[in-house]
Order: sequence, then C-alpha cells, then structure tokens
Amino acid sequence: MTQPATDPFAALASGRRSVRAYLAQPVPLTLLQQLVRTARQAPSGANLQPGSLIAVQGEVRASLSADLIAAFKGGQQEQEDYAYFPQPLPSLLRRRQVAAARALYGALGIGREDRCARDGQFERNFCFFDAPVALVVTIPRDFGSGGYMDLGMALYGLMLAAQSQGLSTCAIGALASYPRLVRRHLGLDEDSAIVCGMALGYADPDAPVNQTVTTRCELDEFFRVLG
Ligand SMILES: Cc1cc2nc3c(=O)[nH]c(=O)nc-3n(C[C@H](O)[C@H](O)[C@H](O)COP(=O)(O)O)c2cc1C
Repeated sequence: MTQPATDPFAALASGRRSVRAYLAQPVPLTLLQQLVRTARQAPSGANLQPGSLIAVQGEVRASLSADLIAAFKGGQQEQEDYAYFPQPLPSLLRRRQVAAARALYGALGIGREDRCARDGQFERNFCFFDAPVALVVTIPRDFGSGGYMDLGMALYGLMLAAQSQGLSTCAIGALASYPRLVRRHLGLDEDSAIVCGMALGYADPDAPVNQTVTTRCELDEFFRVLG
C-alpha cells in the first residue's frame, strides 16, 4: 500500500530526486547553516554525531575540481578510505546498478556503448554538477560502520531539509575515489576519511539530466514478517 498523498513526509520523501544540473541562483549561507543544523537532528549511536561537512567555494573549490577532473581524465587511481560496494557485486545488486545507470544515461540520450559521453557525465561529479553549494563529507578514520550509518542518516536529513525548502541535492560518492587529493586541497590530515561529496542548490527544471527517474524494488524484496 502506498502512503496517502496527504502524508507530508511521504510527499517530501517521494518527491526527492538526485539532481545533477542547477540554476546559478545562490544559496545564502544562513539558509545552508539552517539546513545543516536540521540535518544534525538525526539520531546517532550514543549521540556521538560523527562526521563533518565542509562547504568548498572560491579558489579552493575551483582548484579541487580542476585536479579531480585531471585525475579522472588521466586515469589516476587511489586507494579509497572505505569500501562502498561489495566485491564482487552480487547479480541482484548489479541489476539495480544497471537500471540506475540506464535511467541516468537514458535521460541524457546516451547509449550503453558511448563510453566517451558516459565519461563526460561522470566527470560532472567532480565539479559538483556546478551546484552553487559543494560539500565534502568526512568522518574520523577510526570510526567503524556504525559511524557511517549515523552520518548517512544526517545526510538524508540534509537532503530532505533541502527538499522542504525547494532545494535539491545529489550525493557524490565519486569524490571518495580520490581521498588523498581531496585531503590535500582541503588541508585535512590523514585522520579525516573522505566519505562523499554533495551538490546542493536550486534544480534546473529544463535540464534533461534532471528527468532521470529511478525506481525502487518491491516491498517483499526487503521486508518480511516472521512469527
Ligand atoms: C552515498 C551516495 C553516493 C552517490 N554517488 C553518486 C555519484 O557519485 N554520482 C551520481 O551521479 N549520483 C550519485 N548518487 C545518486 C544515486 O545514483 C541515486 O541516489 C540513486 O540512483 C537513486 O536515485 P534518486 O536519488 O534520484 O532517487 C549517490 C547516492 C548516494 C546515496
């Protein structure tokens, strides 16, 4: 059964999409701070509230993006601070990954074999999709999986807080591919693990990439009642 349309949370959650093209309209710092505070209402184990968000702008952002793009184009590889995907990816998850990619590249009219166009879109991760706000998400290196779970809740809180203010977001896991490069640009030490980035701003309603629509698996694939 789907949630009734009158449920404001259900409407907010199901209205959110990852947005990968933004208007130039700036986001005032006070609004961003308010969103981040709201996101921090997320629960965390023992209220440890792990992780931090760093908004990068100006010269720091420009040189970070330039170097990330150069690293990507040059085929550079770094050891990530944490493993995201199971290796190897089980076939069920692989099918979901392929469906998400098909939704994204389909919206852009990019064919499965068009490696060059796909790389071009992937490169957009590294300029934070030109969003007015570019965030880098970090966590102390010693945190275990629980800390990532706490931080994930706060990040979803931020996405929904943004959504409720008419703003959009896209998490950028691609940023975690170059942790040393990111640390160097942000002046962070080895203790800061790079979790992901996030783009935030006002969606460009006319951008084809923002017509990407993903689906979710059926309830019985992830929920059951025992006893
Ligand atoms: C932790 C995380 C990392 C992600 N990394 C990327 C990324 O690097 N690039 C990208 O275009 N989308 C990224 N996404 C967006 C996902 O592809 C997207 O959430 C998923 O396909 C479901 O679509 P939806 O957010 O529009 O509902 C990421 C999402 C999450 C939660």
